Amino acid sequence: MQENLINLSYLISAVLFIIGLKMMNSPKTARRGNFYSAFGMLIAICAALFEKGVVSYQFIIIGLVIGSAIGAFLAATVKMTQMPQMVGLLNGYGGLASTLVGIAEYARLYPNLSIYDTVTILSTIIIGAITFSGSVTAYGKLEGIVSGQPITYPLQKTLNLLQFFVIVCGSIFLVLHPENCIWFSVVVLVSFILGILLVLPIGGADMPVVVCLLNSYSGMAGCAAGFVLSNYCLIITGALVGASGIILTQIMCKAMNRSMTNVMFGAFGKVEAGSADKRQVTVQGYTPDDAVVVLESASLVIIVPGYGMAVAQAQNNTRELADLLEKKGAVVKYAIHPVAGRMPGHMNILLAEANVPYEKLYEMNDINSEFERADVALVIGANDVTNPAAKNNSKSPIYGMPILEVEKAKTVIFLKRSMAPGFAGIENELFLLPKTMMLFGDAKDTVVKLVNLLK
Ligand code: TAP
Repeated sequence: MQENLINLSYLISAVLFIIGLKMMNSPKTARRGNFYSAFGMLIAICAALFEKGVVSYQFIIIGLVIGSAIGAFLAATVKMTQMPQMVGLLNGYGGLASTLVGIAEYARLYPNLSIYDTVTILSTIIIGAITFSGSVTAYGKLEGIVSGQPITYPLQKTLNLLQFFVIVCGSIFLVLHPENCIWFSVVVLVSFILGILLVLPIGGADMPVVVCLLNSYSGMAGCAAGFVLSNYCLIITGALVGASGIILTQIMCKAMNRSMTNVMFGAFGKVEAGSADKRQVTVQGYTPDDAVVVLESASLVIIVPGYGMAVAQAQNNTRELADLLEKKGAVVKYAIHPVAGRMPGHMNILLAEANVPYEKLYEMNDINSEFERADVALVIGANDVTNPAAKNNSKSPIYGMPILEVEKAKTVIFLKRSMAPGFAGIENELFLLPKTMMLFGDAKDTVVKLVNLLK
């Protein structure tokens, strides 16, 4: 009876996870989806505690209180632009938890481990350890604790291959001799080191993709831990996280026109000595007064938000600006590029936070045909996602990346602080076009000035 109830609880949890994931498809339902999934997790945890016959709850309660307090504090204080590193760290904890489960089960079953036990335990530990150390390294890069530049050195790939070889051979040996603690320790240690060394050569700017991939790994580690513990719910949950993480990684790579191997092994973003463009270009800066004249007479304004809007936290003021333009009779639409900002859905989240109605947000393929009708493309802290080099320059690192075709609008207004490039580190020829107005300054300050002038 009790076993049936526990299995039923696991089934309900799994269904809630799937419904929750499905609801993530739309910002309208995402919040509720998150709640359903969290509720599913609560049911799963309670069922697991009953299943394992936990009699002493004091440590669990202490852990629950400390963990919840830290989680709530982080959730309340972390800035939206720090979300990738926060997610990275959480993936890492998932990986570490799986590794610890694997080590604990090895110790518990030692020395009578079947082939099944050894294979599932090693899978959990290896994937979990790589996820943990890789995620901590990604966190360090995103926080600026470790250099964001790709860190490369001679024989790097050979060394990584060697470690991979040690892990595979050590695992095969352990399947035959599971009681060999020394080899067990070697495999655990090398897995931790491999995680660090795999992430070090990847540029800081590619970390969001890496974080997504590590998210998928943490799911796989959890799934393997589910096999170790014979826990169906963990197997299903891990598989869901693993699959959705890999799908998201592929979506991000596709939107940047990069292959996953290019992200993992391409050392993208490394600044070669002497590669900086030495041309001195003088660009005329415009004032908010100039821009307001154009905005006031516009019938269709398409706002293109980017990473700079997130940095400046200009989303609420941008909404205010859009409201004022609408009051003056203009139609305002928002063009969302799939990789604008630094994490998937970055712009959607910011604009939802500012209560911009979801119907006003248009995906790239739906809005691109409208730019030629637009009077103004108002680009707020976006750069690469508008750069025509992606279409015209086959040597450009972003060549092939689909872009928002802002250059087709009658006037393009760029709000940014300088002529500095964006994430890809390349110039944007749009800044030099006669139809472009560069409004230099912090995006929030500039939008506030535009709002005041319009008022
Ligand atoms: P970027 O090309 O990075 O451009 C952002 C621009 O914002 C910069 O040129 C910067 O210029 C400006 N900026 C920064 N702070 C500002 C502030 N306080 N006020 C005004 N402007 C400010 O951003 P994007 O167009 O959103 O493109 C995103 C890039 O990130 C793409 O290349 C994409 O491939 C990459 N990427 C995205 C993701 C995801 S999932 N979104 C993941 C990995 C990589 P100034 O310094 O002159 O102000």
